[in-house]
Amino acid sequence: MSFKFRYRSPEETAQAATTLGLSMGFSTDYQRLGEGLTLGQRTIPNRLVVQPMEGFDGVNQGEPGELTFRRYLRYAKGGAGIIWFEATAILPEARTNPQQLVLNSETVDAFARLVDATKEAAWAEFRHEPFCILQLTHSGRFSKPAGQRQPIIAVHDRVFDAVVGVDAAYPVLTDEELEWIRDTFGEASRLAYQAGFDGVDIKACHRYLLSELLAAKERTGLYGGSYERRTGLLKEIVALVKNSLPTLTVAVRLNATDLVDTANSWGVSPEHPGRPDLGEPLRLVTDLAELGVGLLNITAGTPYYNPHVNRPYDQPVKNGYAAPEHPLQGVDRLFNLAAAIQTHLPAVPVVGSGYSWLRQFGGAAAAYNLSHGRHQLAGFGRQAFAYPGFARDLLSGEGMRPEKTCITCSKCSQLMQVGSSTGCVVRDARVYAPIFQRAAQV
Ligand SMILES: Cc1cc2nc3c(=O)[nH]c(=O)nc-3n(C[C@H](O)[C@H](O)[C@H](O)COP(=O)(O)O)c2cc1C
Ligand code: SF4
Repeated sequence: MSFKFRYRSPEETAQAATTLGLSMGFSTDYQRLGEGLTLGQRTIPNRLVVQPMEGFDGVNQGEPGELTFRRYLRYAKGGAGIIWFEATAILPEARTNPQQLVLNSETVDAFARLVDATKEAAWAEFRHEPFCILQLTHSGRFSKPAGQRQPIIAVHDRVFDAVVGVDAAYPVLTDEELEWIRDTFGEASRLAYQAGFDGVDIKACHRYLLSELLAAKERTGLYGGSYERRTGLLKEIVALVKNSLPTLTVAVRLNATDLVDTANSWGVSPEHPGRPDLGEPLRLVTDLAELGVGLLNITAGTPYYNPHVNRPYDQPVKNGYAAPEHPLQGVDRLFNLAAAIQTHLPAVPVVGSGYSWLRQFGGAAAAYNLSHGRHQLAGFGRQAFAYPGFARDLLSGEGMRPEKTCITCSKCSQLMQVGSSTGCVVRDARVYAPIFQRAAQV
């Protein structure tokens, strides 16, 4: 099945959603998006968020490179209230691409320059300071530090072992190794604080290491099996960071559901494996809030197995699959997952994901969702690659311009898949069309 975006107004989009049995709302009262939000000792200048989006353009063992600086300066000049810096590995072997950013004592000064430059650029343009969060990651089974797969796994799983080509004899991380990784997350958080970030995100989504652990029902030992044990490492990391760096905001980008039918699943109904079951995810966010998590960013699925759940698209990557559902269903699922968590936990601001498929009407969907308390912040991923000034146009009241929006063509994902640096091939073609052409020849 292939469904292309073809709507001329928010009303038409809402009507299409109704026809599919969904209830998506839109509002052109963009004022709500411009409201500040107090978080810790800071005020976030508005409710629009640049989602974490890897560019894979690090240099010298993981420092931000020229294209990294370019990307964040474009975001800063675009006006979003939160800039959520991309997945940054806590260890060189935990990268999913040789050019992924790595935070350690050798690269920290370059990160400090990046945060300074980002805040300065936003100040010069808007007289505001964006809230800067660094996403810290361990890529786990999707690690490819030298360009080839070097999986680091927490549990064997029928579905995911096949995805990365490992068999039952492949080694699994020991509890001691996980504890060392926990402490490394702690050290990376300290370095993020030193570099000037306002917050860190302990990434627990998309089936990277900490997300795999949440689902590790068939793991034995301290960090697998029961709910308490599977969620234990993430909670220990949060407690460690909160105790050692009390003024740093700790955020978690969390899968509300993996939506994968397998023995080691997270947030999936055992009776209906195609449906989310939020019992454990709701319990986890309550536990995380008690430990001091101040911000949640809700997402779902994994780009390695069910990308249509993770990022609804018109067109798949080359050799990918056409989405088995209307993309509006994917967008609606992501909105509903964030709404369920926000309703359950009103005190902790939730960032909603999945806005880019809606093109120029994404801002109107955000205005509706925020004014109806479905989440407190709206995150834009591919849209920020394509249209870094989306926030400026929304906050000025003009709305987003159709000729600038992401068209969900998956070319940026394709670049990522082949191990290249990535960005918007369509709207930032001067830089990324030649990169795409070169990658296509490989
Ligand atoms: C090229 C690319 C890179 C991404 N990098 C990250 C990342 O670093 N961290 C993360 O949590 N999600 C990452 N994502 C997922 C996005 O943040 C976002 O959740 C997804 O694209 C859906 O939101 P959208 O519809 O606004 O694009 C990436 C997605 C793409 C296409
Ligand atoms: S290449 Fe550009 S237009 Fe295509 S999906 Fe990525 S950000 Fe959107």
